[in-house]
Amino acid sequence: MIDGHEIIRRCRLLAQLTEEPCHITRTYLSRPMREVHRIVGIWMEEAGLRTRVDAVGNLRGVAGTPPSLMIGSHLDTVPHGGAFDGVLGVMIAVELAGRHPDYPLEVVGFSEEEGVRFGVPYIGSRALVGAPVMDAPVLAAIRDFGLNPDEIPDAVLGPEIRGYLEFHIEQGPVLESLGLPLGVVDAIAGTSRWDLRFEGRANHAGTTPMDMRHDALAGAAEWIGLVEHLGSTTAGLVATVGKIDAEPGVRNVIPGVVRATVDVRHAMDEVRQRALNVLLDGAEHIAARRELKVEGEALLDQPAAAMHFDWVAKAVQAAGYPVHHMTSGAGHDAMILAQKVPASMLFLRSPGGISHHPDESVLAEDIDAALAVGSELLRSFVG
Ligand code: HGY
Ligand code: MN
Ligand code: MN
Repeated sequence: MIDGHEIIRRCRLLAQLTEEPCHITRTYLSRPMREVHRIVGIWMEEAGLRTRVDAVGNLRGVAGTPPSLMIGSHLDTVPHGGAFDGVLGVMIAVELAGRHPDYPLEVVGFSEEEGVRFGVPYIGSRALVGAPVMDAPVLAAIRDFGLNPDEIPDAVLGPEIRGYLEFHIEQGPVLESLGLPLGVVDAIAGTSRWDLRFEGRANHAGTTPMDMRHDALAGAAEWIGLVEHLGSTTAGLVATVGKIDAEPGVRNVIPGVVRATVDVRHAMDEVRQRALNVLLDGAEHIAARRELKVEGEALLDQPAAAMHFDWVAKAVQAAGYPVHHMTSGAGHDAMILAQKVPASMLFLRSPGGISHHPDESVLAEDIDAALAVGSELLRSFVG
């Protein structure tokens, strides 16, 4: 048996396997992911799991005789991320396998949840529910990693898997503000992701009068203000412009083209869709008034997902911890697995409420609490 302190040590060890020295950056099938597979594979084997890497790069370990419970999370990170987002859930799953030898389990370390390398999230988990990402660049990355895209159909979950469970840091301030170690996830908010392209006319920054400009960046900036205003005034909605690029991107030229991303989330799909429509219409109106062109491309329309939380709440109570129900604003592989099997999540407190940041952390005692709840869950799981 290992405890929360050892699990933190393991997460911080894996955090050193990065594409960028001095930062934690590990994207889909990047070089450091191979070493992650080797090291986590050893820990899995020590826990009695028989391991393999599937055709989309998920690290998978099985034990016991089906019907089985799948427990896991993702091994990739955002750029300059933290040491626990995703990885912690895999470490907890491995330790539960070790504490319950021969229990019918499959542990999975998903290869790609964040969607950083190709702009498409959930590549690992989507293959398990029969909705693989088959874009050419993704297939090329699979071949470059030494895997065989022809075997992607073999990655699909079989009937032997009767449920999915994911332990994950909350990545927000709620549990810490309530002084609670754990949170029972009732639902995962849906996410819309679009890229918008504003086109005006590049011109000389010194000689072009203000009333004769078609400034793509000024137009995008007005729209970004609308995004923030809508998110701030709609209950339960969050809306974020995470990235903009301005062309030609030099001080003395009025930007002619600007690309901007937008990420819109809400627990209710109809509210999210309505908000997205307001933002897309808003972009059209701003562009028309400023004599710009604007076009948009949908990258993700991920519906909200209900979680199976009753048994999790009961296990939290049986382990002697307070039960707190909450919605996840962050997306997780559980929302993909929920398309095929009953899916559940348990959150661990995020000190400082910070995540997707090097200061992301977790408390050893909260990991020990999650492990105690995990054992209760295994005892109560009926495949
Ligand atoms: O963006 C998210 O919600 C998650 O961290 N992938
Ligand atoms: Mn994340
Ligand atoms: Mn995550």
